[in-house]
Amino acid sequence: MTNAAPLQYRVTRSRNPKPAAEREAILAVPGFGKYFTDHMVAIEWDREQAWHDAEVRPYGPLQLDPATSVLHYGQEIFEGIKGYRHADGSVWTFRPEANGARMQRSAHRLALPELPVAEFTESLRQLMAVDDDWVPSANETSMYFRPFMISSEAFLGVRSAHKASYYVIASPSGPYFANGVAPVSIWLSTEYSRAGRGGTGAAKCGGNYAASLLPQQEAYAQGCSQVLFLDDVEQTYLEELGGMNICLVYRDGSLVTPALSGSILEGITRESILQLARDRGIKVVERRIAFEELREGVSSGEISEVFACGTAAVVTPIAEIKGPGFSVGRPDAPAGELTMSLRKELTDIQYGHLPDPHGWMARLSPA
Ligand code: PLP
Ligand code: COI
Repeated sequence: MTNAAPLQYRVTRSRNPKPAAEREAILAVPGFGKYFTDHMVAIEWDREQAWHDAEVRPYGPLQLDPATSVLHYGQEIFEGIKGYRHADGSVWTFRPEANGARMQRSAHRLALPELPVAEFTESLRQLMAVDDDWVPSANETSMYFRPFMISSEAFLGVRSAHKASYYVIASPSGPYFANGVAPVSIWLSTEYSRAGRGGTGAAKCGGNYAASLLPQQEAYAQGCSQVLFLDDVEQTYLEELGGMNICLVYRDGSLVTPALSGSILEGITRESILQLARDRGIKVVERRIAFEELREGVSSGEISEVFACGTAAVVTPIAEIKGPGFSVGRPDAPAGELTMSLRKELTDIQYGHLPDPHGWMARLSPA
């Protein structure tokens, strides 16, 4: 079954939304992913009716039968996308069709139903129609939307579920890293892979993140804030960090990033940064990069800047890379010039301070 007509939403307003003063106190120091708005979106799917029962309802716990298949077999996918408050008070998002299409690819890989891309964007609009007041306006703040989908059939047979639920929650947010936009140290995992050939690395599914948490814990223990993974076959080539892509700037000014290998998440920030760099006439190369090339290049100065990019991370300079028995770079290394200027151009487009030459922005509120 597929849906022919757009979904009609039922809207149930919260009877106890956060008082304005409490909300404003949260918006003043939102952190990342700690606070949630008064409402959420829920849409149900089953094989007979396809997508149905779309609603905006008060934010609150989900009630799940203990046999619900997501709890046993991990059939879950998610997205991360932000809303940006512009100077005129309107709220805009960035390339929602790209996130909607990626969620469809993730759904396909996890044998979940595909939500139409237009419904993905509409779900963000529906939430903003009731929770617009929750979008912060201070510099470097945004609304982080977390759309996600779970298999919701209560059944223990191992097969794709016949029922699924899609939700959107929203969290007013500041910078992802505790130290703001400051350069970070990253830890090379030599023991663990994030994803494998033919696996789910290119899908945004919870299981990939579960697999990254033990090495991420190691990274924290080494004073690093993210873990860097290599390819699982040769354990040689850079893939990505636990929750962001990686880019290198060479002394000749070129921007180099690992080619999409099938096990790397196709980051929308990555793709956008590469586009902005190409627009400037910068040479952009997507290819395999051996870790040794990174290590030697940073030591010799052949690689002048390294940065991470993603929706949560935006563009975050990498100061130092550590691994068992070695480190390159310095924890106090300053942010790279190209890193920061691409970051500024991207965020200026997102916050409406610059024109949007690629038509990336979509208005969420007022709808
Ligand atoms: N890689 C991983 C593993 C991620 O979790 C993310 C974040 O979403 C990214 C890369 C960057 O993707 P995007 O720029 O679409 O947020
Ligand atoms: C995002 O950037 O949206 C992610 O999902 C990554 C995670 C580190 C929060």
